[in-house]
Amino acid sequence: MSDAANKAWSGRFNEPVSELVKRYTASVTFDKRMAEVDIQGSLAHAAMLNKSGVLSDDDLAAIRGGMADILADIRAGTLEWSIDLEDVHMNVERRLTDKIGDAGKRLHTGRSRNDQVATDIRLYLRGATDAIVGLVHELQRSLVDLAEQHAATVMPGFTHLQVAQPVTFGHHMLAYVEMLGRDAERFIDARKRINRLPLGSAALAGTTYPIDREYTAQLLGFDSVTQNSLDAVSDRDFAIEFTAAAALTMTHLSRLSEELIIWMSPRFGFIDIADRFCTGSSIMPQKKNPDVPELVRGKTGRVNGHLVALLTLMKSQPLAYNKDNQEDKEPLFDTVDTLSDTLRIYADMMRGITVKPEAMERAVKQGFATATDLADYLVKKGLPFRDAHEAVALAVRYAEEKRRDLSELQLVELQSFSPLIDADVVNVLTPEGSLAARDHVGGTAPNQVRAQIARWRGLLAA
Ligand code: ARG
Repeated sequence: MSDAANKAWSGRFNEPVSELVKRYTASVTFDKRMAEVDIQGSLAHAAMLNKSGVLSDDDLAAIRGGMADILADIRAGTLEWSIDLEDVHMNVERRLTDKIGDAGKRLHTGRSRNDQVATDIRLYLRGATDAIVGLVHELQRSLVDLAEQHAATVMPGFTHLQVAQPVTFGHHMLAYVEMLGRDAERFIDARKRINRLPLGSAALAGTTYPIDREYTAQLLGFDSVTQNSLDAVSDRDFAIEFTAAAALTMTHLSRLSEELIIWMSPRFGFIDIADRFCTGSSIMPQKKNPDVPELVRGKTGRVNGHLVALLTLMKSQPLAYNKDNQEDKEPLFDTVDTLSDTLRIYADMMRGITVKPEAMERAVKQGFATATDLADYLVKKGLPFRDAHEAVALAVRYAEEKRRDLSELQLVELQSFSPLIDADVVNVLTPEGSLAARDHVGGTAPNQVRAQIARWRGLLAA
């Protein structure tokens, strides 16, 4: 078939595009991923045309039969995609016409590829969003399980990556459960704006046929129909929102990744990651590298890049549809793939983590993590906070010279820094005492951590 004869608009043109231009303008190599939702959208459109009296019963039956065959071919991987037919929409339509003749040519009545592609992306993204919310919840469950095992495991909490105050490892894990909870909320919220039907907007202005958009929406499970045709065929803000939610999720996971990498370094030795998530070195036999968290850190850059790509794609586009929008798909698909894989691997990886409580406890003591508790103790005995801060600073300096933790100093030694110190000080100087004292909603006391675990279990119950 000659190129001119092949194209959907062949009548208008005197010469075919060059091979390079054909390749440059085609999208089928990547938008074929939307084939199933494209067929789903076409079937709903055909049913609506039939209900509205635009398409005969015979034509509808033929379209249904032809599409069923095409779907089977796609699933079997036997459908041959042609870049001569530019995109997934025209490939499917041509196959249909090859199979069923004129009925296939009537499918595109009252529709344009502009509202068709906008519909397909929304259908695709709705499915992806639901799957991703499920994966985020799965990772949260894995973190909650880990938190439960370590609701009372002492570890140093850090600020500026310097030992600050004792926290529990469970509390630390639950911080990520919170972040992921907001991430899931963002996806669920974006879904509301994804799930609106643009079909019926046609090329840009609507159509002259007596269409029933509400009916199409109902068939496809959309919550509502878009209210302005120019807006509906052109804006991709819903895809940008989705990608922003994905970028934030990856950003949260990059923070956890950085921590896992640091904790697994022998300098810290707080955790070990199961071998199946690590690799060795081809030259250094002793090495075990945390490749997965490192890659998650790296892939976060990639997803953040997709967000910027989509924002830049949309920026300054005049109404309505422009071919620029064809460039939305690769960043979007790669965002879905990268985030889905990352979430799946992470849920498994967190279940395979070995926690080393002795190393964490040692770091708490070396870091004088209970110094604030001692200052608070003195304040409660009547000393102004600044004076208490100074007294404890001197005590820390002394303990450091003696290579002991504050909890390992004799009472008389402590009293040389403040006469307000009594025998009851022992309760505040141990990490356990420090943890138990932070007993309020959001605090690190083990009973508070357990209460949060129970709360999350309720929220995540499938
Ligand atoms: N492949 C195109 C896209 O992804 C489909 C819409 C094309 N419409 C047009 N008038 N060229 O956006």
